[in-house]
Amino acid sequence: MSRYQEVKKQLIQCPKVWLVTGVAGFIGSNLLETLLKLNQKVVGLDNFSTGHQYNLDEVKGLVSSDEWQNFSFIEGDIRDFDTCQKAVSGVDYVLHQAALGSVPRSISNPVLTNSANITGYLNMLTAAKEELVISFTYAASSSTYGDHPALPKVEENIGNPLSPYAVTKYVNELYANVFAKTYGFKTIGLRYFNVFGKRQDPNGAYAAVIPKWTSAMIEEQDIFINGDGETSRDFCFIENVIQMNILAATAKDEVKNEVYNVAVGDRTTLNELFKAIRVSLIGNKVVVNNEPVYRDFRAGDVRHSQANIDKARGNLGYEPEFRILGGIDKAMPWYINFLTRNAD
Ligand SMILES: NC(=O)c1ccc[n+]([C@@H]2O[C@H](COP(=O)([O-])OP(=O)(O)OC[C@H]3O[C@@H](n4cnc5c(N)ncnc54)[C@H](O)[C@@H]3O)[C@@H](O)[C@H]2O)c1
Repeated sequence: MSRYQEVKKQLIQCPKVWLVTGVAGFIGSNLLETLLKLNQKVVGLDNFSTGHQYNLDEVKGLVSSDEWQNFSFIEGDIRDFDTCQKAVSGVDYVLHQAALGSVPRSISNPVLTNSANITGYLNMLTAAKEELVISFTYAASSSTYGDHPALPKVEENIGNPLSPYAVTKYVNELYANVFAKTYGFKTIGLRYFNVFGKRQDPNGAYAAVIPKWTSAMIEEQDIFINGDGETSRDFCFIENVIQMNILAATAKDEVKNEVYNVAVGDRTTLNELFKAIRVSLIGNKVVVNNEPVYRDFRAGDVRHSQANIDKARGNLGYEPEFRILGGIDKAMPWYINFLTRNAD
């Protein structure tokens, strides 16, 4: 039995109370769904700045009514300390996901990104420390590798940040380390590489590449590739991210006060990604006629990204269950349903 299976079995036998911040967003709502199905009690916190009520409604429809009774929701902002204190009250495990994502958004509005990602983070960290929660796991980011050229990325070797967003995520790690040293409050940071899966928002100026291209293919709109298409990423399916959050939250103290890459260890170029989405949509009987339009490289983007996941494997027992093609095939029916329903 894998470590993940073992932990899930223990949680079902002995349920805990979890706080998921950013619960109405992509990753948060997927964490919520899994935790409720494991019979856990979940408190959710979100201000709906980029998350949606319809994500919560969808989860409600996917769990039993008894499981849904285990969920309580606080509509509120992590920039307000009292709200954070209220949210952590009586909680065992915190999964802190709330933040403003997107490199381009942070370049357009660094002050706003800073307030959610640094002030909001510090509020949550402080409130969790005061509540003496069992564990605090937070969403860090592969953007922290910045301009470090080495591939694959190992946790210890980082470069200079290339965007305001990357600065905020690095500051999160610095605060986590200082909280361990000064207060003995040990956390785990999860450096997510490009995550994808159902409920990742395809709409808006700051949509991530997989939902954006999927929606453009279905709606027959132009697809732009920034640069020559040979930029590469380690795309990570949401189920792997859920596994890492659950393993991190329940990890023993010796492997805390660390950051871990959350990825697969693969590298896929944008040109390959374009083909993979097209093939998957065609396999789902969607007619796709698009050809990509190439344009300039985008400011703040790193050229290549690929993770070494040995540390997560060794310390936490992480074993990614999905690679990119399997993940895309799992996600596509949801996108087709979501985008066609919204077009009606
Ligand atoms: N998706 C990725 O590829 C990726 C990669 C690296 C890191 N991350 C990090 O993972 C986390 C979750 O990202 P996601 O992709 O689910 O994004 P998302 O935008 O779908 O979810 C973020 C959620 O946080 C909420 N939120 C934002 N600011 C808030 C505030 N001030 N108070 C309360 N709630 C607030 C939003 O309303 C939203 O529901 C973020 O911290 C993000 O930086 C994501």
